[in-house]
Amino acid sequence: MTDLGLVTGASSGIGRALAHEHARRGRDLLVVARRQSELDDLAAELRTSYGVSVSVFPRDLTEAGSRRALADYVAEHGLTVDYLFNNAGFGRTGDFAGQDWSRLSEMIELNVVAVTELMHLFLPGMIARGRGRILNTSSTAAFMPGPGQAVYFATKAFVNSVSKAVAAEVSGTGVTVTALCPGAVDTGFADTADMADSLLFKSAGSAASTARQGYTAMEAGRLEVITEVGMGLMIKGLLPFTPERLSMEIIRKLQSPRGGAE
Ligand SMILES: NC(=O)c1ccc[n+]([C@@H]2O[C@H](COP(=O)([O-])OP(=O)(O)OC[C@H]3O[C@@H](n4cnc5c(N)ncnc54)[C@H](OP(=O)(O)O)[C@@H]3O)[C@@H](O)[C@H]2O)c1
Repeated sequence: MTDLGLVTGASSGIGRALAHEHARRGRDLLVVARRQSELDDLAAELRTSYGVSVSVFPRDLTEAGSRRALADYVAEHGLTVDYLFNNAGFGRTGDFAGQDWSRLSEMIELNVVAVTELMHLFLPGMIARGRGRILNTSSTAAFMPGPGQAVYFATKAFVNSVSKAVAAEVSGTGVTVTALCPGAVDTGFADTADMADSLLFKSAGSAASTARQGYTAMEAGRLEVITEVGMGLMIKGLLPFTPERLSMEIIRKLQSPRGGAE
């Protein structure tokens, strides 16, 4: 397989669109998520449309040993991961104290532990070969605390921090690490997070555009990309000068049904 890209969370949304971006460049894929039928459909579509090889690895990445099993699958099949799209993740609205712990710990396991372990499993090989690209799907949630989704925002702050630090460590090796930071995107995310009615998702971007911008930034070796220009200006230009209690109040309202009219 050539220029193999491993995409987690490829069964829908941004991950599915990233798989398309990769395949349309004639590059092969290994796609991962829990829903095998969606992965099989995607694989068939990519093989037909782009003539690339696609392997399917259906697995719950929160399960103990799942990430190691994925690395073992890669080794046993003689594959080499040149591109890692660490994308699977989910959020869930609700105040921290009232959240189900098993759901929160599952979120940390997927958004933080799985992302970090997969990077740890595949990065050394990339460094040894002197080439590799990692795109970690973070979020604009990475840039501020998020009351109403406290743990989700914190998981994405972690993703940004670890991505940039590792990017600095591997500088000059031929390997790059990029954090993809979208705002609201029209995918399965809002339903899973129970925020489809929120003001934030009234003007969501598309998965295709998000993936395209992420892919371009990854190929350019950028540290991070915020996919909406307006959001980028707000986060980099306005947020640092906004009192934190005010910005957190705004964030809470944006995530509530109809912008706070609960
Ligand atoms: N949409 C947004 O507004 C938005 C904004 C900023 C950042 N993001 C980030 O973008 C990434 C992709 O989300 P999305 O928006 O594309 O949402 P999505 O359509 O719900 O996609 C989530 C993907 O993750 C997979 N997944 C979920 N739990 C998994 C598990 N335990 N093991 C393996 N795979 C699992 C899902 O597949 P299965 O259900 O088949 O397992 C699916 O392919 C996430 O990291 C999310 O935090 C999204």
